[in-house]
Amino acid sequence: MDATEKRPNKKERAKERREKRHQEISRLRTIPYSDHERWWSAETIAVVTGANRGIGFEIARQLATHGLTVILTSRDTTAGEEATKALQEGGLKVIFHQLDILEHESIDSFCAWVKEKYGGIDILVNNAGISYNTGSENSVEFAEKVINTNYFGTKNMTKALLPLMRPSPEGARIVMVSSRLGRLNGRRNRIADVALRQKLEDVELLTEDLIDATMNKFLEEVKDGSWISGGWPQNNTDYSLSKLAVNAYTRLMGRVVSERGDGENIYINCCCPGWVKTAMTGWAGLTSPEEGADTAVWLALLQDKSVNGKFFAERREINF
Ligand SMILES: NC(=O)c1ccc[n+]([C@@H]2O[C@H](COP(=O)([O-])OP(=O)(O)OC[C@H]3O[C@@H](n4cnc5c(N)ncnc54)[C@H](OP(=O)(O)O)[C@@H]3O)[C@@H](O)[C@H]2O)c1
Repeated sequence: MDATEKRPNKKERAKERREKRHQEISRLRTIPYSDHERWWSAETIAVVTGANRGIGFEIARQLATHGLTVILTSRDTTAGEEATKALQEGGLKVIFHQLDILEHESIDSFCAWVKEKYGGIDILVNNAGISYNTGSENSVEFAEKVINTNYFGTKNMTKALLPLMRPSPEGARIVMVSSRLGRLNGRRNRIADVALRQKLEDVELLTEDLIDATMNKFLEEVKDGSWISGGWPQNNTDYSLSKLAVNAYTRLMGRVVSERGDGENIYINCCCPGWVKTAMTGWAGLTSPEEGADTAVWLALLQDKSVNGKFFAERREINF
C-alpha cells in the first residue's frame, strides 16, 4: 500500500475477511470426501425439517448429493411433494413426509412412520423456523408463534426423535440451524441481565426449566406490554431470543448426550447459516441458500467425534 492509498476501515476489513472466508469455503466444497471420511452410505437416513424451500431445501439437496437417503419434510404437503419431485428428478434419493413442528400430532405420526419404514434415523437437521421482521423492524406481534416454532417446536422435535436415533459405531447427529442473533454475549444484541446471562452460560448449571422460564417470562412481558423495558435483545427481539434458547438447548443436550454409552453416541451442534437470500430475509441476505446450507451439511457429515454441544459459522467454532 503506498502513502496515498486510504487504509480500509473496520467495516471494509470485516467485508474483506468475510469474502476471503467465502472463497475458502467455496474451495473446500469442491474437495470430495475421501473414502476414509465417508462414514455414511445410501442406507444412512437424514431428516430435514422445513425443507420445501430456502436453506432447508438446500441442506436436503446437498445431503442427498453426498449419497444419503433424505427425508424431506414440510408442513405443506403440496410444497413438500413438489420440492421432493425436483430432487428426485435429479436422481437423488429423497422421500417426502408431512411434518409441522408446531403440531404434536404431526410429530407423532411422523415418528410412527419413520419407525415403521426405517426403524430409526441417523441425522436430524432442525432447520424449520420463522421470523416476522425484516431489516430494522422489531414488532413482537407474532412473538408467541416465533418462540413456539423456533424453540419449543424444535425442542419437541428433538425429544421425539432422540429415541429413534439409530445406534451405530459412527454415532448419530443432530444439527440445529440457529443464528448469531441468539448469541448470549453479542456486543450489540444481548440480554441486559448479567446474572441471567451467566446462568444461561454455565453449561453445568443450565437446565431446560431455566430456558423455558426465560422464554415464558418474555412472552408474559409481551402480553402486558412491559417487554420494551425488560432488557431483552434489541434487534429482532423475539427471533433473537428464540435462537438464544435453541443455542442454550444445544449446549444442554450436548452435555446430556455426552453421557451415552459407546455405540449409542449422538453429537448435537448448532450453526448460523449467515445472512442468506431467502424468503425469511425478503431475499436481502449476503449469501445464497447453497452457501447458507454449507455449515449445517458439513456438521451433519463431520467425522470428528469431539465436536458436540458447540456453535459454528462458516465451518468454524464461534462463541455462544
Ligand atoms: N435466511 C437467513 O439469513 C437466516 C439467518 C440465520 C438463521 N436462519 C435460519 O435458517 C432456517 C431456515 O430459514 P430460511 O432462511 O431458509 O427461511 P424460509 O425460506 O422462510 O424457510 C423456512 C422453512 O421453515 C418452514 N417452517 C416454518 N414453520 C414451520 C413449522 N411449524 N413446521 C415445519 N416447517 C416450518 C417453512 O415452511 P413454509 O414454506 O410452509 O412456510 C420453510 O420451509 C431457519 O431456522 C432460520 O431461522 C436463516
